[in-house]
Amino acid sequence: KLPVIIDCDPGHDDAVMLMLAVGSGLFDIKAITTSAGNQTQEKTLKNALRLKALLEIETPIYKGCEKPLFRELIIADYVHGEMGMDGPILPDPTINPESLSAVEAIAAILTNSSEKITIVPTGPLTNIATFLLAYPHLKPRIARISLMGGGAFRGNMTPTAEFNIYVDPEAAAVVFNSGVPITMCGLDVTHKALVFQEDIDLFRSIGNKTGTVLADLMDFFSIFYRKERTELNGGAALHDPCAIAWLIDPSMFQSKTCYVDVEVTGKLTMGTTVVDFFDVLKKTPNAEVVYDIDREKYIKLIYDSVKKLP
Ligand code: BDR
Ligand code: CA
Repeated sequence: KLPVIIDCDPGHDDAVMLMLAVGSGLFDIKAITTSAGNQTQEKTLKNALRLKALLEIETPIYKGCEKPLFRELIIADYVHGEMGMDGPILPDPTINPESLSAVEAIAAILTNSSEKITIVPTGPLTNIATFLLAYPHLKPRIARISLMGGGAFRGNMTPTAEFNIYVDPEAAAVVFNSGVPITMCGLDVTHKALVFQEDIDLFRSIGNKTGTVLADLMDFFSIFYRKERTELNGGAALHDPCAIAWLIDPSMFQSKTCYVDVEVTGKLTMGTTVVDFFDVLKKTPNAEVVYDIDREKYIKLIYDSVKKLP
């Protein structure tokens, strides 16, 4: 099993990412840490605890940073709702997070593990950047960072900036300049990782409690996409599971090794991942930029994984 730390802001698609990570049975999930993004830290943490109960897992959950490195938090309640994971009826968590902070937990896990660890961030990169700045000597203990964020050729917060990067661009710049190998699943691929009504019906037909929650989540999540992203033809972009699916089966995707940096100022482009797709700069590449997916295989992978869950 691949040892991973998952850093997420659940979040509908973050929840599906966790279902895939757990249901696939292919990961040794050392920790789930929560980022502030889709909703406040308090709410994404609560949602992670709700998912721990739903999925009946023992994985420790650690609370992350409350705010971006230098900025005020921007949330995506217009997509994810008031609790950040609206739709299904999920009871308030009765379990608690661990007492260590997310950043301390990541440091402790990397220090004590005999194997290198892969980090999978699917929210703003505040926790990961804070960790990298505080514990630079632990970088060699990270096998890879497989993240959802950015885009080579499109944005969703501005014409060129994607939400996770836009919320904390300085943190993203730290991560992309860290020297750790990065897989970037940005909007180029996630806008092709679409879920349609027939897929939601298929998920519901699984008949277990996770399948029902998955379908309820996708029903709510699709409202925004059908209204605001009509160019996706009724599909909802199931972003975050791509970061896990790429680790499971990279052959399902198309990608290119590129040099990527993040615009942290910029009059029009703040928060943009500047991807040198055509190698104009001839700089040493720092990321595997994923831009296409076999959608049918992706849906089947999620379906097969959720089938194995409670
Ligand atoms: C990203 O932003 C969030 O709303 C989603 O969970 C995903 O991580 C897509 O831009
Ligand atoms: Ca997310």
